[in-house]
Amino acid sequence: MATDVKDHAAMPLRLIAYISEYTGKPENIGADLADIRRVAKRFNRENGISGVLFFLNNRFMQVLEGEAGTLSALLRKIEADPRHTHLSYLLNAPITQRELADWNMDTFHLTQSEVFRPQTLQAVTRIYTANVEPDARSFLTLLEDMLNDPEVLRIVNH
Ligand SMILES: Cc1cc2nc3c(=O)[nH]c(=O)nc-3n(C[C@H](O)[C@H](O)[C@H](O)COP(=O)(O)O)c2cc1C
Repeated sequence: MATDVKDHAAMPLRLIAYISEYTGKPENIGADLADIRRVAKRFNRENGISGVLFFLNNRFMQVLEGEAGTLSALLRKIEADPRHTHLSYLLNAPITQRELADWNMDTFHLTQSEVFRPQTLQAVTRIYTANVEPDARSFLTLLEDMLNDPEVLRIVNH
């Protein structure tokens, strides 16, 4: 339908992924994650944004999908959030359809040993490759930052 085409053109979708460093004390991450999840689940559902948030080794990794304008407004708030710093984008790509509709800001607080579980790595890979051309450099950066240890990355690599 003509209106559908117009609506899609007016509301481009984007997929965004970033990593950042937690600024809080280790003992506060549970409460901070719970607060982020509570606020995000509601806001994201009401604004058509889906996503997932990982926490590992004092770092966040978040993947978000939604309408471009809504997402960039949210990211301005996230970038200014004092609970993290050194936010670095891994992905900021146009997409043609939603793939993460089932992910309403679930949060995963992973330990080092959990990263090596096949289910964890498969879930991360699935999210990463959803609808974008995988790029080896950014994917390895993502893994490296999740694992935060070059020795560990080498083991994954071989
Ligand atoms: C790592 C991280 C991820 C976040 N993800 C989201 C999110 O997906 N959706 C959301 O509404 N807020 C998210 N927040 C919280 C926002 O930064 C902000 O606190 C929230 O949007 C409320 O802002 P406001 O009080 O100015 O409305 C996140 C915060 C952090 C630190």
